[in-house]
Amino acid sequence: MADAAEQKTGEACIIDGKAFAAGLRATVGAKVAKVKSEHGLTPGLAVVLVGEDPASQIYVRNKGKQTLEAGMNSYEFKLPDTASEDEVLTRVEALNADPDVHGILVQLPLPEQVNEARILDAIDPAKDVDGFHVINVGRLWTGLPSLVPCTPQGCLIMLKDTLGNLTGKKALIVGRSNIVGKPIAQLLLREHCTVTLAHSRTQDLAAECRTADILVAAVGRPQMIRGDWIKPGATVIDVGINRVPKEGEDGKTRLVGDIHFGEAVKVAGAITPVPGGVGPMTIACLLNNALIAACRQAGVDVPD
Ligand code: GUN
Repeated sequence: MADAAEQKTGEACIIDGKAFAAGLRATVGAKVAKVKSEHGLTPGLAVVLVGEDPASQIYVRNKGKQTLEAGMNSYEFKLPDTASEDEVLTRVEALNADPDVHGILVQLPLPEQVNEARILDAIDPAKDVDGFHVINVGRLWTGLPSLVPCTPQGCLIMLKDTLGNLTGKKALIVGRSNIVGKPIAQLLLREHCTVTLAHSRTQDLAAECRTADILVAAVGRPQMIRGDWIKPGATVIDVGINRVPKEGEDGKTRLVGDIHFGEAVKVAGAITPVPGGVGPMTIACLLNNALIAACRQAGVDVPD
């Protein structure tokens, strides 16, 4: 069982994403120190934030802080909510051309006047640390080296550490987004899982879920997946981050996942909590992608 998973009597192992993320950040930091000293290469990660969305502002602040802590250069660009698509494109093109910037992330969602697909398409695929560019998506699905989306990468690391070999496991993913559902399906297929990609129109979703050795919930619906939907002993990864009102405390909120944790923890073999599960892994994987992108651009091997 994973170092970062804690066994509780009679309940599922809680997969500690914070501990996994801290470990990965430390590993990335050590590798950054190595490429700096051996090759004079300091990876640089640029984040573009358009508008004032409070959740996005928090993410961007955390990304900047953790980028610096890993020993990389961090560049932040804030554009107003009213920025035009051309203004965002101009910023992306400048970052594509900047040799000190090895990774570019445009924080989503974008304001409605800015076409997301056009912006993602404008990012140099070699600098696309989100792995959202069609070139990287195509490379991932055809088994070529690519930059792999961060949240799915984090889920896979925790699954492999918890279960070891995933070959032959039945994996069910609820949610078919480009950011999580589709790429995690491909990553699990690569690990020789039998993969089902379920969604809002899947018939008898509860029955489908009950067949899964690995259940990944990425649907954005608070506590939708109940305890009796889960196969006893299954490994459950909850990607959902939903803010809901705190009972009995007017105006206060709390974070919950897409899984009903209180019920699921009694049935699953292992489960990620929200918060403290998948979330912290996403930024750690982003730093890892920035390091990989920098090494590839500089023509040096990523240190072991
Ligand atoms: N907004 C929420 N999650 C993400 C992410 O992983 N990447 C980007 N670019 N925006 C996001």
